[in-house]
Amino acid sequence: MSEKKERPLVSPKTQVLFDKKAKVEAGGGPERRAAQKASGKLGARERIDLLVDDDSFEEIDALVETRATDFGLDKKYMAADGVITGFARINGRPVCLYAQDFTVVGGSLGLAHAMKICKAMDMAITAGVPVIGLCDSGGARIQEGVESLGGYAEIFYRNVDASGYVPQISAILGPCAGGAVYSPALTDFIFMVEGTSHMFITGPDVVKAATGETCDFETLGGADTHSRLSGVCHFTAGSEHDCFRQIRELLDFLPQNCREKPKSVMPSDDSKRESDVLERVGELESKKAYKIHEVIWEIADGHRFFEVQKGFARNLVAGFIRLDGESIGVVANNPQVLSGALDIDASEKGARFINFCDSFNIPLLTLVDVPGYWPGLEQEHGGIIRRGAKLLYSFCRATVPKVTVVLRKAYGGAYDVMSSKHIRGDMNFAWPCAEIAVMGPQGAVNILYKAELKAARDPEKLRSELVQQYVDKFASPFQAAKRGYIDEIIEARKTRPKVIRAFNFLKGKKVERLPKKHGNIPL
Ligand code: HXC
Repeated sequence: MSEKKERPLVSPKTQVLFDKKAKVEAGGGPERRAAQKASGKLGARERIDLLVDDDSFEEIDALVETRATDFGLDKKYMAADGVITGFARINGRPVCLYAQDFTVVGGSLGLAHAMKICKAMDMAITAGVPVIGLCDSGGARIQEGVESLGGYAEIFYRNVDASGYVPQISAILGPCAGGAVYSPALTDFIFMVEGTSHMFITGPDVVKAATGETCDFETLGGADTHSRLSGVCHFTAGSEHDCFRQIRELLDFLPQNCREKPKSVMPSDDSKRESDVLERVGELESKKAYKIHEVIWEIADGHRFFEVQKGFARNLVAGFIRLDGESIGVVANNPQVLSGALDIDASEKGARFINFCDSFNIPLLTLVDVPGYWPGLEQEHGGIIRRGAKLLYSFCRATVPKVTVVLRKAYGGAYDVMSSKHIRGDMNFAWPCAEIAVMGPQGAVNILYKAELKAARDPEKLRSELVQQYVDKFASPFQAAKRGYIDEIIEARKTRPKVIRAFNFLKGKKVERLPKKHGNIPL
């Protein structure tokens, strides 16, 4: 016999609250919710449910309403003023979040909407927890005029205040237009969903009017554009479900705030594991490209690498791994793209990643195989001097434990930049096949022996003899090791155990910097 469950007593006043909440939860109503679904997007509340741990979301400010009156806004019901805010748990740890509701006036941002987001951000700062924004909005609410602009600016100010204090993550799940893109741009990581997310300063019509260029939303500011070309987006996802899974995975590598270290996990892999794959990479001919991801997988716990900005500046690879259960940031040159040379995009990508890791106490592993900076007019005119300096600045400034392994080439200025001993790499290893010198053999011989080669009866024969002499003397790690610039030359197969020991040793590292307001990174 089934027992009949008694309904809890609800007082009339509580019933009023329930009714109000039900109205808020209905968002923009069934029609607009259906339209949202038809456009391939989830609803704001569904998104929160999928992102956070089960039954952990606590909503705040659900009953906030706009006080705007122009254009009949006082007669219009705008549930939650178009944004749901609150706190929850992700992977068991607290976060603050907000989700814009496109079914309510296109998720547009009025003053009340903005102040709800600001409160959630203030709470994140007070509690020292990450803040996540789920953005789906037509931008500044036109009817609220300058109050909407002021609301955005309040958010921007808090984004900057929170920068480096708590991790900030933005998921773009619909349109993100005009100045509205600058809040996500000020956060640490931007996620976009293929096909439904768009970010741009001015839409296709304005672009056409201003420049005559024809484009659609996707070409102008879709996930592919921003992950491959502009570098605005750090992660793309095939669906919103995939996007939330990735956000949860990313958060697991991060601490809650800058005062904490990232959470360690139970090591899932043998810390003494050696690798034949790495030994084979170390035996490759000097000019032969290999997949740097394979090297990273071999070093990482469980062969797992969570890559950041996968499609942008692919000559430099960055992302998170675990080593013996600890969260580590990896920066590596990629010999398969531009031979691993550094260019403007790679420098900026690396610099930003290093800054993030340093802000949040995530140690850095640098894997070096770099022939130098990428030459050419385009790079020089584009400002490689000032923009390439960002990578150097960031490595120099970073005070987290820094372990470097020179896999193969480390030539010229790029040797210095890639976390060399001189800019305070803590432990600098090299494989026996490493080549550490001012420049590669061909270039060096052409300069050093210009006159001899010109006068020679068989310049090619002389050149190959001279190149061999140079290779024997300089294209090795031994000159650097002799001077203590490399702490140890290690067998390639032992890279994983060696770097794990180094990071374990460095756990207590603490560096005090000169007292100053802040440095002046070249921008
Ligand atoms: C008020 C807005 C709005 C806005 C959309 N809506 N954007 N209401 N202010 N900014 C309303 C629409 O009027 C409509 O209401 C509902 O939201 C859904 O919009 P649709 O246009 O029907 O949807 P869709 O066809 O999917 O197009 C979405 C869109 C388009 C591409 C986002 O709405 C659009 O272009 N909006 C304007 C984008 C923009 O230029 N924003 C201002 C940017 S400037 P009804 O009631 O008809 O359903 C900015 C400055 C920030 O943001 C400055 C910070 C420094």
